[in-house]
Amino acid sequence: MVVEGYIEIARVEEIKSGELKVFEVNGESIILINLNGEFFAYKNQCSHMELGLDDSEIDGEILTCPWHGAQFNIRTGDAVRLPASAPLERYEVKVQDGKIFVKI
Ligand code: FES
Repeated sequence: MVVEGYIEIARVEEIKSGELKVFEVNGESIILINLNGEFFAYKNQCSHMELGLDDSEIDGEILTCPWHGAQFNIRTGDAVRLPASAPLERYEVKVQDGKIFVKI
């Protein structure tokens, strides 16, 4: 299955609700988050000091960076707590036939 402009990265059942997984896509590290069955993808880089978000905590719709505690809204990528003020870099996600595709 090919969705134009998108790359298949996972199957829906690989990521449980409230979980985050890291994928390498086209040489880019990205995080994919399942938020109650909706999927969101961001560059694996905090907007504070550009460190990885692999070990972030997820609490409801909030993602907390493991390094200095900045928080982001998972739906929008917007920073909601300092020390980050810029949003995360977001990638579009599509789900089709149980597969997750990301536009990179
Ligand atoms: S690198 Fe994420 S809060 Fe500093």
